[in-house]
Amino acid sequence: MTNLTDNVMLMGNGYFNYYVVGRKGAALVECGTRAGASIFAKQWAQLKNKPDVQYIVALHSHFDHVCGIPVLRKIFPDAKLVASKQAQKILSKERIVKELFRNDAIVSESYLKNGLLQEKPDTHEEEVITVDMAVGEGDTVQLGEGFELRILDAPGHSVCSIGAYFEGEQAMFVSDAAGYRISKDLLAPVFFQNYGSYINTIKKFMSYPTEAVGVAHGDVPVGKEVEQFYKQAVAAAEEGFNYIKTRLAEGVGEDELAEELFKRYIRGGLAFYPREMMLGAMHLLIQSVKAEL
Ligand SMILES: [Fe+2]
Repeated sequence: MTNLTDNVMLMGNGYFNYYVVGRKGAALVECGTRAGASIFAKQWAQLKNKPDVQYIVALHSHFDHVCGIPVLRKIFPDAKLVASKQAQKILSKERIVKELFRNDAIVSESYLKNGLLQEKPDTHEEEVITVDMAVGEGDTVQLGEGFELRILDAPGHSVCSIGAYFEGEQAMFVSDAAGYRISKDLLAPVFFQNYGSYINTIKKFMSYPTEAVGVAHGDVPVGKEVEQFYKQAVAAAEEGFNYIKTRLAEGVGEDELAEELFKRYIRGGLAFYPREMMLGAMHLLIQSVKAEL
């Protein structure tokens, strides 16, 4: 547990970050996987002076951002689940939710295999994930003590991505909308939905005075690192885009290119993810580039 600012706590194991914002009427931002949420649950149990969590915020509906919800709901049974309108729609579909938990189980297995977890995490699933509060650009989530989270639409990574800005202490929660932070030097560009809107989203984040960027995975950029992080995010996206564009122009087949991208980007925390799913994600990058050409 780290205090990022007076009222923002960072929890989790770094592969999946959890943020507790505020003290009274607080929000838990990010939901992670069941493996990540099990780690969070242990940390939470040990925490003294626990904030009173009233909201659980899912910043997009990918499996590694929503499958921790059943575990978190047990800890915070009265909390309202907040997500975008698009995420609400996606998470109401049984077929999709089943697939999300199937992928999540694969991550739990690789955590166990790699010694990141000692015991099998909670295997509880939900048939659908019910979003209690659907939000979009300009909406606010009112926390206690006069604090609020301001919601921003953050498309490009996925259609259902939102960001949340905690103006009180200048923290911007971006989830995966600016990239997947593998290490301080390596950021995987993740414009799975649309390249242009991904770049615009990062530029939008940059226009807010920010002291800490709440990324979902990896180290949290703070202070002077913030500007550097956003610049790195744009550069990584441009570089990825140009690489794909060049390889396509050279006549490389999409399957081969997806394998190349896999080798380039699927490292660190991403290496625990299902291979098929990650290859599919690399194909999405290729499609996003093709859509711009
Ligand atoms: Fe994602």
